Amino acid sequence: MIVCSCNVITSANIQLTIERLVAENPGALITPGMVYHGMGHVPNCRGCMPHFVAMVYEILQKMQQDGRYLPPPRSPRPGGKDCEMLKSGLNDNEPQNKQNQNETQ
Ligand code: FES
Repeated sequence: MIVCSCNVITSANIQLTIERLVAENPGALITPGMVYHGMGHVPNCRGCMPHFVAMVYEILQKMQQDGRYLPPPRSPRPGGKDCEMLKSGLNDNEPQNKQNQNETQ
């Protein structure tokens, strides 16, 4: 299926590029921009972007569920939820920490 008609990018191109980027950069954060540029193209009209971005995140999420993509842990934003969790010793990327803390309470 053609996702970007300006650059004739198909869903298969996107899937293969994501798999290549993940293989080349294990543990790196893969972004829609990396994927688009990883195919050697530059967006033209950008009309495909909403669908393209949704497709990239859908593929990455599926790969993450399959254990084929492990994104890096999120860095805390000052004053954000992650920052508060780190202060309290919790990290939502490490579910065993939540479980251990629940067991001790
Ligand atoms: S449809 Fe993708 S840049 Fe135009």
